[in-house]
Amino acid sequence: MHGVGIIGAGSVSPGHLQAVATLESTHLQAVADTDAERLARVCAEHGCQGYSSYEDLLADEGVDLVIVCLPHGLHCEVTVAALEAGKHVLVEKPMAVNVEECDAMIASAQRTGKQLSVGHMHRFSPTNRAVQKLLREQAVGDLVCLCDEAYRPFNPNRPAWYLDKATHGGLWYQNGIHLIDRSCWWVDSRVVAVKALIDSRFFEFSADDVAMALLQFENGVYSTLIHVWWRTGGRRFSTEFVCTDGMLQLRRGIESGRNDLFIGRDGDWEQVEVTEDHDTTARQLSAFVEAIDAVTEPPVTAEYARHLVAVLTACMESSRLGREVVLQDS
Ligand SMILES: NC(=O)c1ccc[n+]([C@@H]2O[C@H](COP(=O)([O-])OP(=O)(O)OC[C@H]3O[C@@H](n4cnc5c(N)ncnc54)[C@H](O)[C@@H]3O)[C@@H](O)[C@H]2O)c1
Repeated sequence: MHGVGIIGAGSVSPGHLQAVATLESTHLQAVADTDAERLARVCAEHGCQGYSSYEDLLADEGVDLVIVCLPHGLHCEVTVAALEAGKHVLVEKPMAVNVEECDAMIASAQRTGKQLSVGHMHRFSPTNRAVQKLLREQAVGDLVCLCDEAYRPFNPNRPAWYLDKATHGGLWYQNGIHLIDRSCWWVDSRVVAVKALIDSRFFEFSADDVAMALLQFENGVYSTLIHVWWRTGGRRFSTEFVCTDGMLQLRRGIESGRNDLFIGRDGDWEQVEVTEDHDTTARQLSAFVEAIDAVTEPPVTAEYARHLVAVLTACMESSRLGREVVLQDS
């Protein structure tokens, strides 16, 4: 049984709290948060130890697995401290704000022999996995390119750090990393070059609200990522995969929230039945715990997550320079 400590009790924490409660192999030992009211509420609800500083949680011997749910700028510092305190760490995405921080985290995991993984949860969705299986089986031939698009309103109830460039807020760090992960996982290759627009066009805050990126993969596949937090517009979430013998399409229903999967051949779309559920966070934790127990690599390795951060920051650099950027780490 693993004693789990969750650092950061904000918007993403309920899914992790639920996951810890769902698994037979984990129990919630402690939560840490600097917001006293929030901490008291979560501890009362879940009957666990509460700490106002993450250092105190790391000193708790009942904690052997830490889930870091903090603003992006704190991921590296707290993950390294947790690893050095002898804990396994699942850190929320993105792994860190730049590759130098990722390297420090990887070095710490290697030095301490503790497991480190990153919360790239999209691969635990049954529909996303069904796409991956069809691609691997070459059900519609070889993948040529894909386009992953998300258009949605900005959520004004975000805490201040989400809106500030200085604290690595904005749509690209927050959601762009999901799009990069999905592409890298589906394409199953490393990104070698990017060309991107990452900017703030709709709102007054300093962090970005629009992103468009073209990723070129080592295996010859290309992907286009588009993500917009609009001031006014229409919602749409869809992913198209162009393959040599047909297409695949993921459409997320606006009302249903369901991800529907279709195969396109000869001008028609045929739906593929997949039972979608909302257990992705529990599946992610379960896979991480299995890797810890079996002393094997977790499904999301730190090296893989570092590559995603390299792609993320290369896109920002490309946008700043107004030209293609070739990745150094691939
Ligand atoms: N996978 C997903 O779908 C998903 C969704 C939302 C957020 N996230 C990720 O989760 C992470 C956290 O995001 P969030 O939305 O929960 O943020 P949030 O701002 O809602 O919560 C962060 C919490 O950390 C606490 N905190 C800040 N500094 C602290 C410190 N030094 N020590 C202890 N506690 C501290 C804050 O008081 C707050 O309660 C981010 O990496 C974000 O990208 C992932």
